[in-house]
Amino acid sequence: MEISIIGAGYVGLVTGVCFAELGHDVMLVDNNKEKIAMLKAGKSPIYEPGLEPLITKSIKNKKLHFSTSIPQAVKFAQSIFVAVNTPPRQDGTADLSFVATVSKEIALAMDGYRLIVDKSTVPVHTGEKVAETIKRYNKHKVDFDVASNPEFLREGSAIDDTLYPDRIVIGVSNKRSAKILREIYAPIKSKFVETDINSAEIIKHASNSFLALKISFSNSLAHICELAGADVEEVTHGMGLDKRIGKSFLNAGIGYGGSCFPKDVAAFIGISDKLGYDFKILKTVEDVNMDQRKSFIKKVEDTLWVLKDKTVGVLGLAFKPNTDDMRSAPSIDIIETLKAEGAKIKAYDPQATQNAKQIIKNITYCKNPYEVAKNADALLILTEWDEFKELDLDKICKQMASPIVIDGRNIFQKSEMEAKGFVYKSIGR
Ligand code: NAD
Ligand code: UGA
Repeated sequence: MEISIIGAGYVGLVTGVCFAELGHDVMLVDNNKEKIAMLKAGKSPIYEPGLEPLITKSIKNKKLHFSTSIPQAVKFAQSIFVAVNTPPRQDGTADLSFVATVSKEIALAMDGYRLIVDKSTVPVHTGEKVAETIKRYNKHKVDFDVASNPEFLREGSAIDDTLYPDRIVIGVSNKRSAKILREIYAPIKSKFVETDINSAEIIKHASNSFLALKISFSNSLAHICELAGADVEEVTHGMGLDKRIGKSFLNAGIGYGGSCFPKDVAAFIGISDKLGYDFKILKTVEDVNMDQRKSFIKKVEDTLWVLKDKTVGVLGLAFKPNTDDMRSAPSIDIIETLKAEGAKIKAYDPQATQNAKQIIKNITYCKNPYEVAKNADALLILTEWDEFKELDLDKICKQMASPIVIDGRNIFQKSEMEAKGFVYKSIGR
């Protein structure tokens, strides 16, 4: 089938490449000319494992085409997926201006039936607004449908998540659009959730918010464990074996970051308020999450006492491993606070350094973890990259001015670190 996708970011690009992999003919559109030029040259604008070889393969097979023109995309395919960004506004509610602009441009270019599928994460009732917009600018008065198809991929495992999803959610208002979407996804073996558009939109916000709630619950448990002399890793392991609770997303740490959980929890609170419901649990989820960064900073302060002129090494800047994404990374707040207190920061990340340089200024970016550790008064682990789990810890210990490791992601065992001569602090144990 021919499919157009507007927005060639993390979601649009991965979706486009995976659709091409499934045998569809895909046109990816973005208004960022540099991005499209890179993609045409077979280069991925983002770091996502396995993505670039698939881009090159699909270009070669003539399954993937790129453009900066929405009218061209509308001409190319009957089904048009919208995967533009929906960033937070100052008050936390979702900025839907990109969705609105694209909806209008699609409508102006439609010359026959089109199915417009929203893949961006949007508040409930956005589908209705998109349909109204399309109706308003539908110059040739052609038939159309609007559908919601929220995306659940995670950065770092985006291709597998797209090709082998736990479920595919489609929100539709009639059988015609459901049939087209089922055909598009036919090669993927997964559970199908066919529902109305409002419910599909809420499934997305509710899923991300529930996962964020699990993380904040574990982070709260971590405090109790520290106070009670228990180990949060043992506690969450014991809890997670209960199938009703599940093992995943129970890792305590420095709180969730990224372009999605912080934004989507805030947006869900925003739309709930607007609808007249005070979603108190989610407000607490947010508070606990922000407190987690502060309590990590307090651990550093309590351990190092005066931060002025201390050298603090940071391993990991990205909001999670296997991505170069720095959006709302907890590392930003933590480093800025320590810097403001006079600490000298040296940092390393396997993939996110280039992006971090645009956001965190006046720190020393190092080429490897050993350079970071050299003469540092403390080493902070902020992202759990596999590379850090395999470090030569004896070498690190010898190189540091004082062998203190404060591990925000619990990647090491306390007993092993202490046996090697480190002062080792972690989360909830
Ligand atoms: P992104 O910022 O990486 O990509 C969005 C792209 O849309 C950008 O390349 C931008 O240039 C393009 N764009 C914006 N306005 C445009 C226009 N008028 N015409 C053409 N292109 C335009 O964002 P993303 O991370 O891919 O997220 C997209 C949506 O998907 C968001 O709503 C997000 O919440 C949701 N989502 C993201 C993820 C994720 O892991 N990143 C996962 C699931 C859902
Ligand atoms: C998340 C969801 O997992 C995806 O299903 C969803 O599609 C996406 O948001 C989105 O809507 O955009 P992502 O943000 O890529 O995906 O990454 P996650 O693996 O969910 O991690 C998010 C944050 O939570 C990271 O900062 C991570 O360190 C933190 N986290 C995760 C924890 O602190 N503990 C955990 O147990 C799990």
